[in-house]
Amino acid sequence: MSGLLDIKNLRVGFGAVTAIKGVSLSLHRGARMGIVGESGSGKSTLGLATLGLLPDFARCSGEVLFDGTALPWDDDVAMAAVRGNRIGFVHQDPMSAFSPVHTIGTHLTRAYTSAHPGASKSDAIKAAVDRLDEVEITDAKSRLGHYPHEYSGGMRQRVMIAAALIGNPELLIADEPTTALDVTTQAAVLRVMNDVVESRGMGLILITHDLGVVAEICSDVAVMYHGELIQHVSVGQIHEQAHSYTEALLKARPRPGMRGQRLPTIAELLPEGWSDV
Ligand SMILES: Nc1ncnc2c1ncn2[C@@H]1O[C@H](COP(=O)(O)OP(=O)(O)OP(=O)(O)O)[C@@H](O)[C@H]1O
Ligand SMILES: [Mg+2]
Repeated sequence: MSGLLDIKNLRVGFGAVTAIKGVSLSLHRGARMGIVGESGSGKSTLGLATLGLLPDFARCSGEVLFDGTALPWDDDVAMAAVRGNRIGFVHQDPMSAFSPVHTIGTHLTRAYTSAHPGASKSDAIKAAVDRLDEVEITDAKSRLGHYPHEYSGGMRQRVMIAAALIGNPELLIADEPTTALDVTTQAAVLRVMNDVVESRGMGLILITHDLGVVAEICSDVAVMYHGELIQHVSVGQIHEQAHSYTEALLKARPRPGMRGQRLPTIAELLPEGWSDV
């Protein structure tokens, strides 16, 4: 039986670098998968390849089935419809995703009309207000007229989530959605995202460095290491069945009671020929 998303033998190369080395992974309907792994392990490339957003020079093979059908990466119009209506994407940095010269209302209503061609202006405004309410932006109607710089970092990130939801997608892919935020705001944004995903029964792929966040929000965890998927287990199993690299990642987390102790590093696990960075 196929899942909501089935990644099959995905390989991605950029010049001499093979960023994804034959990854296969399934996300079941309603599952919330955390993708973790060190910097450069291929997490973002996996998300971007799924959405057909790799640069033209990237070499990509394999396929991704969404709801049992291969995503048509070569068809820009069809992929735009997938991104508008079926899979929402939340970037790490909302400031680079929003144009500073357009109001939040313009961004959201344009996103709505591109997902629903021919929709009336009043429907688009209503959808924008509803989505802002959903991500707990107070006084949503009057805030539509504000520009991105008038929103705080946490609010901008919640607006990104609202924009990703505007076409009622079945899956949300969020690439490090909170790394630019302080811890308190991070917790608030993650809670809102989690509430939205849960109440809509959506699937979630959350790309993050933070195993603590994965433990709190996700049902599954996939661990990437140098372009390979080295482990995919349910969150509850991560301690029992930890791969040696995952175990090293778990040990490298700061924990209560560690004051004054050095955190272990995982340099000894780098592939042969790599220097300690
Ligand atoms: N547009 C690109 N051009 C060339 N190389 C790229 C490009 N995008 C990614 N890469 C390379 O692919 C590999 C995987 O990068 P990717 O951004 O997917 O890692 P990541 O796990 O998301 O890292 P981070 O945690 O730092 O965001 C890295 O070696 C990176 O340098
Ligand atoms: Mg990344």
